[in-house]
Order: sequence, then C-alpha cells, then structure tokens
Amino acid sequence: MKKVLLLNGPNLNLLGTREPATYGSTTLADVEAMFTAEAARLGLAAECFQSNHEGALVDKIHETGRAFAAGESIGVVFNPGAYTHTSVALHDAIKGVGNLPVIETHISNVHQREAFRHHSYISPAAAGIVVGFGTDGYRLALLGLARKAGL
Ligand code: DQA
Repeated sequence: MKKVLLLNGPNLNLLGTREPATYGSTTLADVEAMFTAEAARLGLAAECFQSNHEGALVDKIHETGRAFAAGESIGVVFNPGAYTHTSVALHDAIKGVGNLPVIETHISNVHQREAFRHHSYISPAAAGIVVGFGTDGYRLALLGLARKAGL
C-alpha cells in the first residue's frame, strides 16, 4: 500500500484552542484521524507528522522524497504554518528532492489577512495549493493529490 504524508508545521499542534475564530475548534488529532480515514478510503496508508522545528520538517521532506522516488509514496499535504512566509530552506528542500508532489494547504485565507501572510516561499515549489476552506482543506488537498497520482 502506498503512503501519503500529512505534514504540519509550527503551532499547528495548538489547533482547536489556537485563535478559534481564525482556525476553528477542530484539533490536530481530529484532522489526523480524518486524514487517515480518508487516505484508507483511497487505499493509502497515512503518516502524520507535526513539528515546530524547521529542520525536522526539512528532514521529513527529504525522507518522503526518497520514498516517492522508490514508488512508495504519492506525496505530501503540507501546512507549513508561519514558515510559509519565511522559509527558503523548506522551498529548497521540496525543490531539492526532485518531483515530490506537495500540496500546500492553509486553513485560513491567508490573502485576506496581514500583508506578511500574502507571500509564500512554498507556492513556487508546490504541485497545488488549497487555501481558506478551514480544516476541510486537508481533505480537499488529499483528494487533489490522489487525483494527481491517478487514484
Ligand atoms: C496557516 C496560515 C499561516 O499564515 C499561519 O502562520 C499559520 C497557519 C493556515 O493554516 O491558515 O500558522 O498556515
């Protein structure tokens, strides 16, 4: 069974209690359970990983790039959190591993928010982008990624 990675960056471990007017009341555990169930429905094994540390996210992208190259993974649904707007290292990691399909996902509509959230270092390296659908965006991103994989 092929794998799919749900990757969440800084502060997304606080989902459910963090600024609920912006991010809702669904917890990260809820999101991961939904993602795992939806992946199983598509015949995929989900792996879920969250880190507040940029290097840990870089390492996970490298690892998944190797799995993709080996035909063991279909790619990544990735909410990079605030690193979206700051991280050349994550941009380079995605580009560096080759063709790994990464669907950049944001719970909120970042374009409706502060100007510093309007630029993404991830978007030029992403295979697709889902923005502003709340935590439902993770499911939409997974469906899009699976479609790109021919599922
Ligand atoms: C976010 C948007 C980012 O600007 C913010 O720093 C986050 C969450 C979102 O999902 O809407 O941490 O990626």
